Formats: sequence, structure tokens, C-alpha cells
Amino acid sequence: MSNVEIDGFPQAARPDELLIDLINRTGGSVPHVCYHPQLGPVQTCDTCMVEVNGLLIRACATAAADGMTVSTKSAKAAAAQVEAFDRILSNHMLYCTVCDNNNGNCTVHNTTKLLAIEHQRIPFQTKPYEVDNTNPFYRYDPDQCILCGRCVEACQNVEVNETLSINWEDPNPRVLWDGGSTIGESSCVSCGHCVTVCPCNALMEKTMLGHAGFLTSLKKSALSGMIEVVKGVEPETGYGSILQVSEAEHAMREHRIRKTKTVCTYCGVGCSFDVWTKDRHILKVAPEHGPANGISTCVKGKFGWGHINSEDRLTTPLIREDGKFRQASWDEALALVARRLLEIKDRDGADSLAFISSSKCTNEESYLLQKLARAIIGTNNVDNCSRYCQSPATMGLFRTVGYGGDSGSISDMEKADLVVIIGSNTAESHPVIATRVKSSHKLDGQKLIVSDLREHEMARRADLFLHPKPATDLIWINAVSRYLLDQGLANTKFLNQWVNGLEEFRKSLEPFSLEAAARLTALSERTIRTVAHMIAEANSTCILWAMGVTQHTQGSDISTAISNLLLITGNYMRPGTGAYPLRGHNNVQGASDHGSMPNSLPGYQSVDDPEVRQRFETGWKVKLPTSRGLDNHQMVEAIHEGKLKAMYLIGEEMSIVDSNANYVADAFAKLDFFVVQDIFFSNTCRYADVVLPGAPSLEKEGTFTSTERRVQRLYQVLEPLAGCKPDWKIIQDVGNQLGAGWHYRHPSEIMDEIASLTPMFAGVNYERLAGYQSLQWPVAADGTDEPLLYTKRFAFPDGKARLFPVSWIGPTDVPNAEFDLHLNNGRLLEHFHEGNLTYRTEGIREKTPDTFVEVSPQLAEERGIQSGTWVQLISRYGQVRVRALVTDRVQGKELYMPMNSVESPVNRLTSSHTDPMTNTPAYKENSVHMKVLAEVGESPLPRINSRFGHPTPQSGVEVERKWKRPDYTPPGNGNGLVQFQMKK
Ligand code: SF4
Ligand code: SF4
Ligand code: SF4
Ligand code: FES
Repeated sequence: MSNVEIDGFPQAARPDELLIDLINRTGGSVPHVCYHPQLGPVQTCDTCMVEVNGLLIRACATAAADGMTVSTKSAKAAAAQVEAFDRILSNHMLYCTVCDNNNGNCTVHNTTKLLAIEHQRIPFQTKPYEVDNTNPFYRYDPDQCILCGRCVEACQNVEVNETLSINWEDPNPRVLWDGGSTIGESSCVSCGHCVTVCPCNALMEKTMLGHAGFLTSLKKSALSGMIEVVKGVEPETGYGSILQVSEAEHAMREHRIRKTKTVCTYCGVGCSFDVWTKDRHILKVAPEHGPANGISTCVKGKFGWGHINSEDRLTTPLIREDGKFRQASWDEALALVARRLLEIKDRDGADSLAFISSSKCTNEESYLLQKLARAIIGTNNVDNCSRYCQSPATMGLFRTVGYGGDSGSISDMEKADLVVIIGSNTAESHPVIATRVKSSHKLDGQKLIVSDLREHEMARRADLFLHPKPATDLIWINAVSRYLLDQGLANTKFLNQWVNGLEEFRKSLEPFSLEAAARLTALSERTIRTVAHMIAEANSTCILWAMGVTQHTQGSDISTAISNLLLITGNYMRPGTGAYPLRGHNNVQGASDHGSMPNSLPGYQSVDDPEVRQRFETGWKVKLPTSRGLDNHQMVEAIHEGKLKAMYLIGEEMSIVDSNANYVADAFAKLDFFVVQDIFFSNTCRYADVVLPGAPSLEKEGTFTSTERRVQRLYQVLEPLAGCKPDWKIIQDVGNQLGAGWHYRHPSEIMDEIASLTPMFAGVNYERLAGYQSLQWPVAADGTDEPLLYTKRFAFPDGKARLFPVSWIGPTDVPNAEFDLHLNNGRLLEHFHEGNLTYRTEGIREKTPDTFVEVSPQLAEERGIQSGTWVQLISRYGQVRVRALVTDRVQGKELYMPMNSVESPVNRLTSSHTDPMTNTPAYKENSVHMKVLAEVGESPLPRINSRFGHPTPQSGVEVERKWKRPDYTPPGNGNGLVQFQMKK
């Protein structure tokens, strides 16, 4: 700590603490417009001038140093602050009362008040630019833009999409998209960072415009008239009284605008934010305090909420009668569900029923569904969609280090010297995690290796991009391990102290020479050696992987090989190291954690363990089934075999997201009784006997667990739509119809029960998760959590990790003369999965209206294909008709199809082959024949899609260029200004 005097009072500054942070933390005040703690010093506004030892400096760009005497209020500082802010007001018209941004958090408004500005010396000047309305989600008004550059900094260095800049040399500077494009045609990915950090109304969500204020919905002519009136009285009254009127209007808004914290419903990053609502209208999503994301979001979390008020929400239970659905009351539907489930149980036994939980539902809902299956029906036939993606990664970690979760936090990925990404399109599938890696790579010298079939954004940014042959990652990973051990580059000290099984592991690597690996993977020996040396030379390495690894017949083994590599290089147990299988759905981690698995009760406690069973039997006051149940892959088989007769499925579009979708749909058609609970009439509902209308995340309370094992609370933003119920209530109602006698009044009571039965969650409760607080499991009874796992020991009885030998077998479905092309598949940034939620947001649909198949330029030329050509893809299992998109993201005979389609789902083509350890389908092992159809349509990606933009990377807002303008002088007339610049 250093001792600093601020306005006459001694204060203790933290190491490297900026003066502005110290002043704010210790209760002082200094104006600041461009500074945002999550962006760091931008230095464009000059309003934070303070006097230090007689010199003026920017408080936002100067670290507090021992012995400093700081004045925020000296005549010199105050004059400089006012002068700087006066320049800002010349760029911004104050019409707060009729501004949608008059919500108490407008920096321009608040600084006018703080500095008690009554009249501006430099009059407002309009800029010669039109408002840009071309993005579906937000608009830019150059006339209101104060050129603070926060948006540029956020886009360049936090989101790292590098779309924004300011043309400082222009007589009329403004914010530019791609150096001068319209927003709609630029590379902007609509992540919303810029809108979130804009300190005024220059960038605003369109959902706010005309809705937030009491007067802002007036016609433009009326508004202009009112603004003129306000401007007219300003010379006489000054801003003080005008601001009083706007503050009264803001106070009125407080009564009708609700701000409620929630957690994103889409991917596993776990972004959290406030949702602003007026009645059922979503005004905006405001991220700031989320422990995983801060100000960050992607387009889905920021703008993808069209499904909430979509007109086709299910609002009444449906019962199939004579092949058609009819509406029914809740009483009738619940009674029917209970009667049929009991009849089938009595007739065919408890194990003829099965339950599928949803990774979109809360932890409490998952817990309750598996309790219904086990305690009320008496079967362990319960599973969730982690089977489709994450189970192999969990298996790899169980085998080697003991816990089936990310070994650290997103902050560790940020800190790492080296990040290796294998089989993950992180920038599209886990966009906010990608921002952290992109930023560390751009600003902090982090190194990046990417292995993938496609040259996606992370691959393009990588220091080293590997494109191995499909399904050969295990080979090069093992070859790297062998090379490191052979060359004495492994971490011997770590191995001796913390790892078992080295000799057996070393032996298992014999087949993985560089020569063999190069031959089988098509990577060069030099490339594999380079990977090994980069890992050996880095102080800390994190490996991130996803479905490009797990969705193979050897998904568990590849995940194991990754963890083995981390172990031999000592990349566990320290900040900036570890294994990160990136979880797909918002709560896929939590669904498994809370027992929706055929072999595990909550907290991965085995159903085979009598002590565990006894604890749950005592808690639930029932006898529990002893044998492990069917997973969702086995359930489909069991239906075809006539062993499984009834299913209760919540919130999963299983008929198109499971592999070999035609086969799965055929199975559903054979069920005697099928209950589907969802918020829309999904494709899977078509096979149901009863459909129950659940509630989306914004309409309920509960918790989600994100990829970094972070448990977070979501609060109810809106009442459930009339006719719908939160899913935990529906499960409770079904349970009670079956005689459960449950009386949960709130999900917190369910969580208390979970904590009492599950050591891993012993200390989890709703008080500890209040607001933006979170816990990363395991959580001890006293509430201590573990952001970084294995800091003291690995999760095995002797505290040591285990090297687990794996060999390469090769893929199941390989191209041949008939099916000559390899088909890869995965997510798209804009849509989540098949798009059941995201297609209901108009702007997303506009930018990304359909699925497509990516075809390499070489193959396109060979087959006479252009973007828009319709093709029929035919596999051994089915066929789909889809338009081609020619792109160099894919190479040669490798195709890629995103999964955002209900009409032409890629899973009509995928097989029933699975990873034998986990039964995860080998979605990524798929060969097809491509028939080129005569029809040529529009490109499946419209010109307004961000992929056609041309980003303009630069180091940040580049304020030095502003300082070089001939008309720029530092406020205070350059009187003693010292321009300190902070290192980022
Ligand atoms: S990508 Fe677009 S929305 Fe995101 S920060 Fe950049 S300009 Fe703003
Ligand atoms: S648009 Fe950008 S530069 Fe303009 S006021 Fe907003 S954040 Fe500042
Ligand atoms: S989809 Fe994922 S990255 Fe995007 S806002 Fe939601 S949690 Fe964050
Ligand atoms: S806050 Fe803008 S220059 Fe310091």
C-alpha cells in the first residue's frame, strides 16, 4: 500500500491502483466521462483532471504513488474539468426529459450536475452525418456522440471484433464501422459491448427507443419542438432547473421500469445481467456485474429474447386425441399424465419409463425430475443432453484428475501464457470466453494454438493453426506427450510429486512417434514438435476443447489424452493452467451435477454405492432402485426393442438434436405414452401424447451452473405467461398426482434439500448466491468454494492424479467412393443450436435466416457450385436439401453444416455410432454424397451478415491521434499538464 493525500485526507492506495479508482473507492468524487473500470484508461475526455504537486494530470491514467498530494478541487483542477466538459457538451444536445437514456445512469447528465454547469461556453454543433439505423438491434446518433471512444475501446480490446474506430483526423470526427460502412453491412457481430458502455444516448438499443421515457414515444416533430423549447429557456434558467425537470421524469420512470438480474439462457459461459422491463416489454439487457462476463455479452444474450413474447408460445396443455391435439386444462392434463405413467409402470415395471431433463432448465428442476424418476417412479432411467456433448470430457477428467468439470475459471484462461484450443469454434460457440482469449492474445502476448478442421476466427488469430485429418487429434496429442517425455521436456518434479502411472503411460505412447503421427494426421513432424516446444516453454498452459473432440467414437479417449498432456507438463494446480471442456448449454453442467444421469445421484454420487443410496433413502423416505438406468442413447434403442414404453421429456428438441434423427423420431412414434414439456410446440412435440407448457428462464427463479462450475441465481424477470408454469412447479404437480406429497414453495427450498444430501454442494444456499454473488463448486459447508480446483490435491483418495493410457482406434464412418465427402457440423454465433429460441428474434433471423453447407472453393469449382446452389446431402442414414455457401473456412473435400435448422437438420445425416464409454454420438464422424441440384438461389447468408464485413484492427481508441489535432490543446491551456500513459 502507498500513502497518498487526497484533498487533505490521507488514503492508502493499493499497488498499481489508479488515482481515479482510489478517489472513487474512498468516497471522493472527480468527474470522469470516458473512464470505465472494465475498459481501463481511454484518456479522451480530459474531465478527470486533478492537481498533483502543482501539475495537472488525468486521474484515470495515473497510478497512485507514495507521497502524492492530490487535489480534485483546486482552482486549476476545477477549471480544467469544466473546460474539458464544456468541449464535450459542444458535441451533445442536452434534452434529457425527452431522452430514453434519462434513467439516472447517463454520464453526461450526471457530470453536468456534478460540475454544476449552468451554461455551456461552446455551443452545441451538429455533425454532418445521419443517424445510422441499419443494425436491427441498436442505432448510432452521431449528433449525440461525445467522442469518448469507450465503444471503440470495447469493440477493439474487450470484444476484439475490431469493427469500430474514430477518424480523429477528420474535421468532424465520428465513430466508424469498418472504417466507414453502414453498421448493417459491417463486420459488427451485434455483441452489444459498445452500446453497453456508451455513456450517453449516442448508441442505444432500439428496444429502448420510444419506450423508456414518458414523453419519448411522441412523434419526432413534437419531440423536436419540445427540445427547441428547452433550448430556448436554457439561457435564462440555466441547466440546473432543466435538470430538475428531467430528474423528476426519471423518478417517475423508477416506478415502471424494473431491473432484474438473470443468467443467460443460451450457452455455458454463464453471462449474467440485469434485464430492464416495462410490463412485458424488454427494454434492454444491461451487463455489468456478472462474475463471468462483466460488460460482455454476445448477440444472443444481449438481444436474443424474442422468444419470450413470441405469439406462438405454448399457453395451454395439449392432449392428443384421434391423432390431433386439443387444448386441455391443467387438471385434466396432469391427471392423464399420472394415470398413464402409473398404468404403464404397473403393467411393464418402473424401468419401462424414462425421463429426460433439460439443460435449459434450472438445477432445482433437474434435481426434481431425477427425484421424480427415482423416488416416485422407481427407475434410474434419467438423463440429459450432456450425453450428446460433454460426457466424454467428463469421463476424461474423471479418469485422470477426479472432478468432471473445468479445472479453473475463465480468469485462468485469460492469465495463461499459452492457450490451446482443440475442436472448439470458441468465437461462435462460447463468444464471451473467446473475447478473453482474443484480448489476452492481442494485448498481453498470450500465445494461441488452434487445432480444427475449419479455419474459423480463432484459427485465423492463432500463432499456430493445425488442420489434422478428421478424427486424428488423439494421435498428435499423444505424439506431443511422447516427444516431451523423450526429450526430457516433461515436468519431472510435478510428475514425481503429483502423478501416478508414468511408466505404463510412457509405454502406451510407443506407437506415437513423430513419424507415425505425421503420416496419420497429415500434420508435419515440425508442426508437432513446435506444439511440444510451445507448451514446454510456456509457464502456464490451458487447453480448451469442445464438441470437435467429444463427438467422436473416441471422445472420452481424446479428452483423456488432453488431460494426460496437461499432467506431464505440470499444467494443473496453478493459476493460468488446466483443462477446460467448454460446456454447451447454459445449464448442461448443472443438469448432470444435479443427478439427471442414469448412474449418478446428485453430486456424481453413484447409484451403486449403498451408503449414498441410504442417505438419499433416508432423506426422501423411499426405497431407491439399485441398478444403473438407461442413458438417452440406450433409451432410444430400448424403445425400438419394445422395452421402454413411456417417456417424460423436458425442454429438449431430441428428435432433431440426437444423432441419426430419423431413427430417433421413429422410436418416439413407437412409445405408448410420451409427455413433452416445452415453451414452444417443438418438432419433438409432434410425437407427444401430452404437451405441457413450461416457462422460459426469464419467468422463473432458480440457479444455473456454468462451464466454470459457477452456480448463479436467476431471478424472475416476468410473471409466467398466462397458462404456463415454471417447470419445477409442473414437475411437483406431476409428482403430487403420483402421490409424492411435495410442498416446495420456492426453488430455494429445493436447493436446501440438495445441499443437505450432496457434499459437493454442502454450502450452497440462496443467501450466499444473492444478487451477483456466485459459488464455484465444490462448496464446503462454510461456503468456501474453489475457483481453481486441485490447489492442494487431486480428487483421488491418495491426492495424486492418474495418467491413463489411451490408444487410437480410428473413426467409424469414413468417406468411400460412394460417400466421398467428410461432413462436419456445429454451432453458429447467432443461433443457439437448432434455433428454436433464436429464430424468434427478428434481427437474428434477418441476419442469419437459414442453415447452409460450407463448401471449399476447390470443391465448388470442381462441382460447379456457387453460394446459393441447392444441393442434396445424402448419408448412410438420411438426406437433407440445403444451399451451399462457398468459403475458404473449409478445405478440399471437407464440408461443414451449422445446426440451425428444424426443417433440414444436420442430424438426419449423422449416425448412431457412439463413444462406447459414454454413448455420446459420433456426430463429427460422418461422410456424405453431395448431389448438386439444378436450382440456384440467393446466398444463404445475406450481405448484411457480419461475416462479409471488413474489420479495422487497431490498438484501441488511439487517443494520441486526437492529441495531435491542431485544434487540440489540453484543458487548462496546456498549463502544466503531464500526460502520463498507463501501460495496459
Ligand atoms: S461488434 Fe458491433 S456490437 Fe460489438 S462492440 Fe463492435 S460494433 Fe459494437
Ligand atoms: S458512441 Fe462511442 S464515442 Fe460516441 S458517446 Fe457513445 S461510447 Fe462515446
Ligand atoms: S450465449 Fe453465452 S456468451 Fe452469449 S451472452 Fe449468453 S452466456 Fe454469454
Ligand atoms: S476519465 Fe476521460 S480522460 Fe480521464
